[in-house]
Amino acid sequence: MSFPRGDVLSILDYSRENLEYLFSVADQMEKYLSEKKKLNLLDGYIIALAFLEPSTRTMYSFQSATYRLGGKTLVFTSETATSLAKGENYADTIRMLDSYSDLIVIRSKYEGTARYAAEIAENPVINGGDGRHEHPTQAMIDLYTMYKIFGGIDGLTIGILGDLKYARTIASLLYGLTRFKPRKVYLISPGILRLREEVRNKIVELRLPFEETTSLQDVIDELDVLYVTRIQKERYPDPIEYERVKNLYRISIDILRNVKKEFRILHPLPKIDEIDYRVDETPYAAYFYQAKLGVPLRMALLSLVLGVWRD
Ligand code: CP
Repeated sequence: MSFPRGDVLSILDYSRENLEYLFSVADQMEKYLSEKKKLNLLDGYIIALAFLEPSTRTMYSFQSATYRLGGKTLVFTSETATSLAKGENYADTIRMLDSYSDLIVIRSKYEGTARYAAEIAENPVINGGDGRHEHPTQAMIDLYTMYKIFGGIDGLTIGILGDLKYARTIASLLYGLTRFKPRKVYLISPGILRLREEVRNKIVELRLPFEETTSLQDVIDELDVLYVTRIQKERYPDPIEYERVKNLYRISIDILRNVKKEFRILHPLPKIDEIDYRVDETPYAAYFYQAKLGVPLRMALLSLVLGVWRD
C-alpha cells in the first residue's frame, strides 16, 4: 500500500489502492485524535495556507490538521493582505511562500492555479479548490465518509444533486468515484445546471455507471447516498442567471418520507437554502460528520505527501 509523495492537484492522479491507504491512515489519525495522543510528525514543518477565495472548512481543517501534527502555519486569506494588492505577480508570490514554508495549500477562483503554483514551487502544492475545476481533498473526504458509514463504496447507489455545472466538488467526486464500483450514480439537476461536457466526457471514458435526471422524487427511494451542493453564486458571471437558478431545488422533510433506513445526505458545505434546516436533526444528515472527518483525512494527507508517515 502506498500514496504518492508531492503535489495533490487532481483526484485523477490517485488509484483505488492509494485512496484506500489514505483512508486507513486517516482511521489511525482519528484514533489518535480520540485518545488525545500527541503527534509530532510535522514538528519543524511550516504549512502555507494561501486562500485567495473564502473558506471555513478547507482552510481551518488544514490548519487544525497541521497543529494536531505538531506543525505551524503561515496564513493569508485574501489578496489584499499581501503584495499581490500592489501588483506583484502570482509567480513571485508563490516563490516567496515556497521559500518560507514546506508545503503550500492554495485556493483560487482561477482554474489551473494550483498546477501553475506546482510548476513554480519546489515544495509540494495541494489544490484547495481552483475555480470550477477541482477540489481533490474534498472528494477524498467525501469518499472517506462513505467508507466510514457504509464500509465501502462498491455497490452503493449515489444521487448527486445541485449545481453540477459549476461545483468543483462534484467534478472531483465523480472522478474519485471512477476508482470504485458504485452500483449507479444519478446526476440530478435542472437542465440549466447540467454537468459540463468535459466532465461528462471524462466519466464516460472512465466508465462510471451514471444516468442524468431532472427529478429527485423519481430516484430518492433508491439511493444510499444523496450528495447535495449549493448553487455556486460566485461562479455566475451574470447575476440574472443566478437569480433564475437559485431556488430550483430544496431538500424538504417531506421528500425523505420513504427513503431507505441507511440513507444518508452528504454536502461539502457551506449550505445555504438547499436543505431545510429541520433535516439537520434527522439521522439522514451526515454532512457535519463529513466535515469533521476533514481533520483526520487532512492529517493523513499531509503526513503522506510530506513522507513523514511510517506504518
Ligand atoms: N467544502 C469546502 O470547500 O468548504 P469551504 O469553502 O468552507 O472551505
